[in-house]
Amino acid sequence: MKENQLSNVKLIDLPKILDDRGNLSFFENNKQIPFEIKRTYWIYDVPGGELRGGHAFKEQQEFIVALSGSFDVVIQDGKVEKRISLNRSYYGIYLPNMLWRSLENFSTNSLALIVSDQAYDENDYVRDFDTFKSLVV
Ligand code: TYD
Repeated sequence: MKENQLSNVKLIDLPKILDDRGNLSFFENNKQIPFEIKRTYWIYDVPGGELRGGHAFKEQQEFIVALSGSFDVVIQDGKVEKRISLNRSYYGIYLPNMLWRSLENFSTNSLALIVSDQAYDENDYVRDFDTFKSLVV
């Protein structure tokens, strides 16, 4: 669990099929994203100024796309913080496990799509920052 995962975070460009009828993007298991999807969820109708996330996962990996609007993904390895703004539906961010992460600065009508390689399991969450630091630093 001590491996520093910040260097494994990746912005991933997705295919973009341009068409006069409108554009199309996609991702597939183990192709554009480096894992097999077990779960998909989305976050929407976030009131101005609200923050989502604020936890780490012991095992699960995620890929996050701003399907609409924009928001910031703030990631922490326990020492260093990185802020990445997502604002296009044709790229996303790959987050390995054991990173503290929050989603914040949501624009009006933004839609965050998140896919994970694991089913929902509260036991996989680390919700206390000091506990997270003790596991990674
Ligand atoms: P949580 O992961 O804490 O939300 P966020 O990271 O955006 O702050 O989840 C909020 C609630 O939703 C919590 O009670 C668990 C539940 N939940 C599910 O039942 N299934 C899911 O796939 C997710 C992501 C959350």
